[in-house]
Amino acid sequence: APRVTVRTVAAKYKKHEKLVMMTAYDYPSARLCDATPDIDMVLVGDSVAMVVHGHDTTLPITLDEMIVHSRAVVRGAKRPLIIGDLPFGSFETTPSDAVRAAVRMLKEGNVDAVKIEGSSDARLAAVSAISDAGIAVMGHVGLTPQSISAIGGFRPTGRTAEEAISVLDGAKRLQDAGCFAVVLECVPASVARAVTERLSIPTIGIGAGVHTSGQVLVFHDLLGIAQHPHHATVTPRFCKQYAQAGIVIAEGLAQYASEVKQAEFPSDKYSPYKMGDGAMDEFQ
Ligand code: KIV
Ligand code: NA
Repeated sequence: APRVTVRTVAAKYKKHEKLVMMTAYDYPSARLCDATPDIDMVLVGDSVAMVVHGHDTTLPITLDEMIVHSRAVVRGAKRPLIIGDLPFGSFETTPSDAVRAAVRMLKEGNVDAVKIEGSSDARLAAVSAISDAGIAVMGHVGLTPQSISAIGGFRPTGRTAEEAISVLDGAKRLQDAGCFAVVLECVPASVARAVTERLSIPTIGIGAGVHTSGQVLVFHDLLGIAQHPHHATVTPRFCKQYAQAGIVIAEGLAQYASEVKQAEFPSDKYSPYKMGDGAMDEFQ
């Protein structure tokens, strides 16, 4: 199948075809996404910090770690457009730091594009600089988990007129700064719809209703694998679980442990290495 590029994404958007994005963090998840023809984009999200590394927030993940995950995903997914998150601390200082981080994600992580959270002046300057460097950038407004320190928690936004205006304004500025698409995270569907209608680039929603140009969900949330305390007991309210893979995995582990304890595993079938004729007599 031909590779998805930013041009493919723009063409589907023009035709009002919904865009499908998934996160992935390693080779097997990337292969599975690659084999799902309708998945257009794979995001190596900094959510890896929480769902894979077990951190409480996305802040601790480093650029080096994002590059390791990106390389694994790119090895597994040859068809979709691969976008890598620029992690907290890698791009906020100066536009040249942002370009340096983005260049590393492309040259070492082998991703096709990067994503940056937020729409403050500093972040818009980062987006402009990265875009000027010839690198495709995706924006991200609404709930921006990297700002948890300033916001004081994972909090949806856009529920007051003032917040809705700020989400719209941020998305427009990101478009003007050169973004090829923008994620809308945890905003009311009515706000996401208004933003989508007013932009000329695709909006990718998560917890933002059905009126966006496309959707994204976190791999572990969608498949019921997430084990993080925030996720294991309560899947995010906006996330539909399309499989309970965590239960399947737990059952497999329990069965394995039980069979080892009972000396049922490995049975003869799983003991494939046989000595040659007469070898045992010599051995003894
Ligand atoms: O890190 C991530 O998974 C994301 C998506 C939720 C958009 O940024
Ligand atoms: Na992210």
